[in-house]
Amino acid sequence: MYNSKISGLGYYVPENVVTNDELSKVMDTSDEWIQERTGIKERRHVAKGDGNTTTSMGVAAAKIAIERSGIDKDEIDFIVFATLSPDYYFPGPGVLVQRDLGIKTVGALDVRNQCSGFVYGISVADQYIKSGMYKHILVIGSEIHSKGLDMTTRGRGVSVIFGDGAGAAVLSRETDTSKGILSTHLHSEGQHAEELSLIAPGMGTRWVNEIIADNNPNDTSYLPHMNGQFVFKNAVVRFSEVIIEGLKTNKLQATDINMLVPHQANLRISQFIQKKFGLGDDQVYNNIMNYGNTTAASIPIALTEAWEKGKINTGDLVVLAAFGSGFTWGSAIIRW
Ligand code: UT7
Repeated sequence: MYNSKISGLGYYVPENVVTNDELSKVMDTSDEWIQERTGIKERRHVAKGDGNTTTSMGVAAAKIAIERSGIDKDEIDFIVFATLSPDYYFPGPGVLVQRDLGIKTVGALDVRNQCSGFVYGISVADQYIKSGMYKHILVIGSEIHSKGLDMTTRGRGVSVIFGDGAGAAVLSRETDTSKGILSTHLHSEGQHAEELSLIAPGMGTRWVNEIIADNNPNDTSYLPHMNGQFVFKNAVVRFSEVIIEGLKTNKLQATDINMLVPHQANLRISQFIQKKFGLGDDQVYNNIMNYGNTTAASIPIALTEAWEKGKINTGDLVVLAAFGSGFTWGSAIIRW
């Protein structure tokens, strides 16, 4: 039996910065409203013609993570890619990463699970490494939201929140089982699937020919929908529960946490969790101010930044926690 450790981290965000003031030019919103309700100051949106795709951004983040892990790309045994905004309906972006990184024909798995996608991804990778099947696994979270947002007043409750970006981690075998990922905890509650969703009918629901024939410009099912207050209320409860579950499993207390990296859903949610667990400002990492909510990419971007800034050191107890569409939620308890 082994553990897995995070041996390399990287992130990539598109250059194009979109401020709250810029959004207020195209919809009825304001910098004041967005900052007060979400904490967001600006986010990144891919620009037309800049060549960014969900896969290319994931690959850019992965290259940094692989280099920092000190392994050769051909030592990667498996790829896990989490996104809700894949380049193609199928195949998923995992195989595109295998192609674009030019690595041997290892397995590639695509994970959905939206905002919890990265935590689900590292949980899957962790099991393969724990069992001894694989030694090094590349886990990517990448999203391009901006191309699918309703940038009018009708969509403002959703579109001011989400941003584009990618983060990646290499998980590697750790022989000391007191170190690395100690445990992961995953949950879902499909009863609330439609509360945060994009319900455009897939091929499992409707004949594609019918959808094309309809060609209905008023069909809002192709736009993301969120029942914000309902999601918020569930988020604060589930974030707390799944952090407590992880701590209890490992016989740890909140006072043992050195760094909590929550999914960047809303600064008010992070602050609520921080207060609930009695953590100081230096024990929770937030960057939603600069990137908005990047769904599956938010934890690996934040984790990379925290590590780059020297806020995570050997021996630290690092907790990752996520909640989002599905509903799905999860946590990972890591001894760095
Ligand atoms: O990442 C996955 C998990 N996601 C989350 O956890 C997100 C959870 N939810 C939230 O973060 C918050 O609910 C939002 C930030 C989405 C919304 O904040 P809120 O404080 O819950 O606002 P609200 O939806 O209750 O709306 C309050 C008012 C409404 O106007 P009325 O009905 O009071 O006149 C909205 O129409 O604010 C209005 N509004 C806006 N005003 C200016 C909604 N969006 C905007 C906007 N600009 N962008």
